[in-house]
Order: sequence, then structure tokens, then C-alpha cells
Amino acid sequence: MKAYLVTGVAGFIGSTLAERLVRSGYPVIGVDCLTDYYSPERKVKNLRWLLHQRHFRFHREDLLKLDPDPLLKEVEGVFHLAGQPGVRSSWGQDFTGYLHNNILATQTLLESARKHELRKFVYASSSSVYGNCNSSVLEEQLCQPVSPYGVTKLAAEQLCYLYWYNYGVPTVSLRYFTVYGPRQRPDMAFYRFIDALLRDDPITIYGDGNQTRDFTYVDDVVEATIRAMESDVVGETFNIGGGRSLDLNTVQDILHQISGLEPHLVYEAPFQGDVQSTLANTEKARRLLGFYPRTCIEEGLLEQYLWQKNDS
Ligand code: NAD
Ligand code: UGA
Repeated sequence: MKAYLVTGVAGFIGSTLAERLVRSGYPVIGVDCLTDYYSPERKVKNLRWLLHQRHFRFHREDLLKLDPDPLLKEVEGVFHLAGQPGVRSSWGQDFTGYLHNNILATQTLLESARKHELRKFVYASSSSVYGNCNSSVLEEQLCQPVSPYGVTKLAAEQLCYLYWYNYGVPTVSLRYFTVYGPRQRPDMAFYRFIDALLRDDPITIYGDGNQTRDFTYVDDVVEATIRAMESDVVGETFNIGGGRSLDLNTVQDILHQISGLEPHLVYEAPFQGDVQSTLANTEKARRLLGFYPRTCIEEGLLEQYLWQKNDS
């Protein structure tokens, strides 16, 4: 059996995906350069189980420095999750990292993908390509990102489309909506809320807490990502969301019920680039990928809470 390539394999979603693939019997080659956006030690920890598996091989390499050809020759398909995430830190000088790791790295990989017979090239896009939408959003909605991060994710998604259109590279882009669960990145809201609760520190909410997100559990995202690889669809874009719109104040209530701990909430000014609401219409993913999110927020947040509690 040929292997799958997972880029960004040491990250939150990439490591969860690679574990699921290896546990299901697929050989995986993983690439990650362990950027210091957050602690590289945390990323090595994400790989702990994988590094002991016979069917897993790890390359600590930057996609912009590596020659992808020998790797792509070996694999059946590519899961391209490497990237510079984070909406709020994509302003100013830091934009260079977004440009390199989201746009240039994707273009380099796609150029190489032209030369190989791949089953699929699945790209981890983002709900941030839409910008502000007031209701449940369909894939054909006009994309008007309001953060520099969103611009780079949209550019990379468009590159995926045009390499399919011009060269037949079998790309599919998945617009993930705010992913959470064990291994969540430490800059993300749920991680920060739980961390503050466990330390009895104040929880900072940017804005009035009425902003809403379609939070999506990581195992559901992984399921959709594997389905995209195994499906017959190419050249398409899909929303991958959890199916429920939830505001941050309600999240505090759920966390209180889960933990029994009393939150100390501090409200600060909202960040430029943060959208007010996201909600995915996932009808297309249901129809063409057979994807249904399975994990409700109460279950998923409990899993993340227990993971952070045991990790601290
Ligand atoms: P993450 O930061 O935990 O994982 C990304 C990994 O990519 C990191 O380990 C990093 O070291 C690696 N990387 C970055 N640039 C690289 C390069 N040039 N070469 C090799 N490795 C490189 O982030 P995540 O939350 O797991 O997100 C994974 C992907 O999904 C990203 O592309 C992100 O934009 C996208 N996404 C995430 C979310 C979310 O809510 N977490 C939502 C939408 C889209
Ligand atoms: C998340 C990811 O971080 C992006 O990488 C991803 O591309 C995006 O989802 C997506 O769906 O495409 P975001 O929705 O901003 O971005 O998710 P969080 O970082 O978890 O923030 C959610 C909300 O909580 C935002 O309004 C943010 O301002 C707020 N927040 C965050 C706080 O109020 N306090 C905090 O300490 C952190």
C-alpha cells in the first residue's frame, strides 16, 4: 500500500489526522518544520505516539526548502495542512510568515504535484476566507476576507483550484470552521479559556462575547478530510462545520458546568480582523462526501477540558 503525505503533521489537526490514518492501517509520511508560532516541544509531544509506529516516517523540513518530488513519487495522496494559522496575529511584519507558509509553500507543493499521479490533494482552507457573513454560508458565497490570514488562505485555495483547472491536479479544498478538541493550539479561544480556568486566572474575552462561531470538533474535521481523499470529487470546495452557532458567553456557561469552576471574565476591545459570526451550510459536504458532524459542543469541550487538565 502506498503512503499518504501529511504536511503540518506535528500540528493540532495534522497530528490527529496522521494518528487516525496510521491506526486505520495507512502508512503516513509526515512533514513539519516545527515553526515557533507556539512551542515546538508541544508539537514534538503531538508526535509522541506516531514516532514509535512502523508505518510512520517523519521529515523535519520546511516545505519551502525541501524538494517535494521524491516524496510525492512515493505517495498516493497529499493532505496539505502545513500553514501559518491565527487570525489576530496576521497583521504587520508577521504577515511575511503567512505569505511564505500559506501561499508560497502551497504553490511549491502544487508545482511538484503536477508531475505526479495523485489520487487527491486535499487542502486545509478556512472559514476566514468568507469574511463577515450574517447567516449560514454556502460555498458559492462571495469571499471577502477581513483579515490578512484569510487573504492568504483564500489565495492558496485559489491556487489549488487553478492547478486543477490548468493541469488536472486533483485538488479539493476544505473550509474548516474553528476547530477544537484535544491538542488545540494554545492561541485559540477554548484553549485559553480552559487554561485560565484551571489556573484561576481571568478569562479575557475580546469584544462583548456575543460573537458566534460554528465550532467543529477535531475528529469530525479528520473524518471529513479522509472522506475528501477517498471521494471521487475534484476541483471542489467544501464547508466543514460543526453545525451549531454558539456565542462566547454561552461557551463560558458550558465550561462552568463541565468544570464546576467559576470564571472571572474580563472584556477587552475586539481585535481587527475578527469576524462577528460564522456558520457553515454543510449540505454539499453531506451530499458529496457523506459528512455529518457527530460531536456536540458539550461532549467535545469535555474532551478538551480533560485533555488540558491531565496535561497541566
Ligand atoms: P498548527 O499550527 O497546529 O499546525 C500547522 C503546522 O504546520 C505546524 O506544526 C507548523 O510547524 C507547520 N508548518 C507551518 N509552515 C510550514 C512549512 N513551511 N513547512 C513545514 N511545516 C510547516 O495549526 P492547526 O490549527 O493544526 O491548522 C492546520 C491547518 O488547518 C492550517 O493550514 C490552518 O490554516 C488550517 N485551519 C485551521 C483551523 C483551526 O481552527 N485550527 C481552521 C481553519 C483552517
Ligand atoms: C480559528 C483559527 O484560529 C484559525 O486558524 C482558523 O482559520 C479559523 O478558526 C477558521 O475557522 O477558519 P477563530 O475563529 O478566530 O479562528 O478562533 P479562536 O481563535 O478560537 O477565536 C474565537 C473567538 O474567540 C474570536 O472572536 C476571538 O476574538 C475570541 N477570543 C479568542 C477571545 O475572546 N479570547 C481569547 O483569549 C481568544
